[in-house]
Amino acid sequence: MADEVSLRLVGGVAVVEDRHDAPDGHLAIVDCLDDLMIFKDRFDLADASLHVALFVFGGVVVAVFLEVAHLAGTPDALGNLDATSGREVEVLSLQALKGDGRHAMLRHAVRLPMRGVQKMNFWCFRSLNEVNGVASRAARTASHRVAVIGGDGIGPEVLAEALKVVRAAGVELDTTFFDLGGARYLRDGEVLSDETLDTLRGFDAILLGAVGSPGVPPGVIERGLLLKLRFSLDLYINQRPFAGTAPGHSKPHEFVVIRENTEGPYVGEGGVLRKGTPNEVATQGSVNTRHGVERCVRYAFELARKRPRKHVTLVHKTNVLTFAGDLWQRTFDAVAAEYNDVATAYNHVDAACIYFVQDPHRYDVIVTDNLFGDILTDLGGAVSGGIGLASSANLNPARTGPSMFEPVHGSAPDIAGKGVANPVAAILSAALMLDHLGESAAADKIRAACVDAPSGATIAVGDELCRRLHR
Ligand code: IPM
Ligand code: MN
Repeated sequence: MADEVSLRLVGGVAVVEDRHDAPDGHLAIVDCLDDLMIFKDRFDLADASLHVALFVFGGVVVAVFLEVAHLAGTPDALGNLDATSGREVEVLSLQALKGDGRHAMLRHAVRLPMRGVQKMNFWCFRSLNEVNGVASRAARTASHRVAVIGGDGIGPEVLAEALKVVRAAGVELDTTFFDLGGARYLRDGEVLSDETLDTLRGFDAILLGAVGSPGVPPGVIERGLLLKLRFSLDLYINQRPFAGTAPGHSKPHEFVVIRENTEGPYVGEGGVLRKGTPNEVATQGSVNTRHGVERCVRYAFELARKRPRKHVTLVHKTNVLTFAGDLWQRTFDAVAAEYNDVATAYNHVDAACIYFVQDPHRYDVIVTDNLFGDILTDLGGAVSGGIGLASSANLNPARTGPSMFEPVHGSAPDIAGKGVANPVAAILSAALMLDHLGESAAADKIRAACVDAPSGATIAVGDELCRRLHR
């Protein structure tokens, strides 16, 4: 947040006050709802003093009417209302204009003078097509602020290739590297301080390689870094797509696992008594809240609705985990009732393991709890070309902070530094990040380049993908 700009609405006129004493001003792109009168009627915004959040993309400041976003309605399950980057403005405008699908806001670019007050009148309607054109042009010039946590083992090696490929796909990232992980912990004891966590909150996204070092007791880095990020940033969806041809099959499959990412056995409920004695007792609970389950299930249905097959399978173990399973099943059924266009199925998790191997084609969207999702997605990777291709997105769909993107594989210390790790999982995770940052065209190009992904040395794979992107 380099610059401070405050924006007030006066009778539908946006007043932009540039308080930043830059030598020659800066280019600001201000998104202003054209039809503020609609909001004025509904929300009485005429005299509201709006404080805007600023997002800096390579010298370009994009101002977003966060308050309008909040006032305009409740975010949907995909969170398409809150605005944290330039591209979301487009979504915001569509949401904000619920009830009037023909018009939306126009994105205005204005060069602001060094100081003083600029008045800009934004009273014009534009068609959605025009707005989309403007928005995607703006997105192409935007640079996204990405926190890069290479982590341990092969993490930094595979991320280096991911960043290279993103650039080859034409997206500029403004990267900041964070030295975190097992190696850092062994050096000076830092796992993830609250201060570092707060710094990370300010980024558009986090790209993570892998964490975990031999010599660090189990759980220290996993809980203290990875899970702390997932929980603190409320990354409640772990989205893991799988595409490939399972061993013994000739037909390719394509499905996505939506893993709940903030609850279940991962919360660390439980404890130990009489440790180290023959009478030791250890309990490890699973926490499932209606809120947590419902937002996850809803996300899965929203996603399924946008996919051709429109099908969601709940995977659980309702026949044994009768408390948690019942909550999941009832929530699933209640949400399903709102999505008549989406077909549903249920599989016990053990049966799902068989189907992953023998009949993966049956799946479109799978929704499941944190631990089942962890286990199933390793299997998903194994039947979809190998864990070296498996990507994931830890999403905060409400966009109250950055989301985090990481390959499903771990730090693989046995092959670290040898230059042989497959970077494709990291590259595909970066593509998921680009989707989230509104750069889906570049993400699609990367995914297309990764079809029949090359194999070989880490750097050679990255180079070959860059070549394919430049063709
Ligand atoms: C994953 C990993 C993590 C998990 C570990 C490293 C804590 O296995 O992302 O799948 O269990 O979620
Ligand atoms: Mn795992």
